[in-house]
Amino acid sequence: MNGSIIWLTGLSGAGKSTIAEALTNDLRAAGHWVCLLDGDAVRTGLNRDLGFSETDRSENVRRIAAVAALVAASGGVAVVPVIAPRRAMRAAARIAAGTIPFTEVHVATSLAVCEARDTKGLYRKARAGLLKGFTGIDDPYEDPETPEVRIDTAITPVADAVEMIKAAVAARRPA
Ligand code: ADX
Repeated sequence: MNGSIIWLTGLSGAGKSTIAEALTNDLRAAGHWVCLLDGDAVRTGLNRDLGFSETDRSENVRRIAAVAALVAASGGVAVVPVIAPRRAMRAAARIAAGTIPFTEVHVATSLAVCEARDTKGLYRKARAGLLKGFTGIDDPYEDPETPEVRIDTAITPVADAVEMIKAAVAARRPA
């Protein structure tokens, strides 16, 4: 699995970070060098100058994709749980990867389930009008049309999701 990017896209609260952490632990236990680039974490440092406008989200995704490509070019696995709400943003990230295998994982948990979980209380704030431009409420999320993997965490346990992703990455490895 050397030199690979695994991008988990989906709504806030879909389960991207949970799956990404489990995948990271699993790959590290197997001896891989893994760099976890979580949107929330990257926004506290490298991307702390960015907000959630369309332009800022594009720049957020562009920078993270660039870091992921450097990690993968150095032989690491970049695991990237980041919403990247527009198809064009994810396409650009794939292009930035060049020949590095890029596995797009759609964590396709429905808005209803994400909102019911509301792990960070952000959906409640968005519905109350206290948080503007929240993905899935008053800001768009474009579903991937042809992701390598699609996971609905309402019906798929985390351990199964990890196995599905590993199988998809293995299938893409050059012979
Ligand atoms: S992205 O749209 O630019 O790809 P990113 O994955 O980095 O988003 O950050 C998403 C996280 O930021 C969410 O999980 C949530 O915790 C937080 N957040 C704060 N404001 C918003 C917003 N308006 N829309 C979506 N997520 C937000």
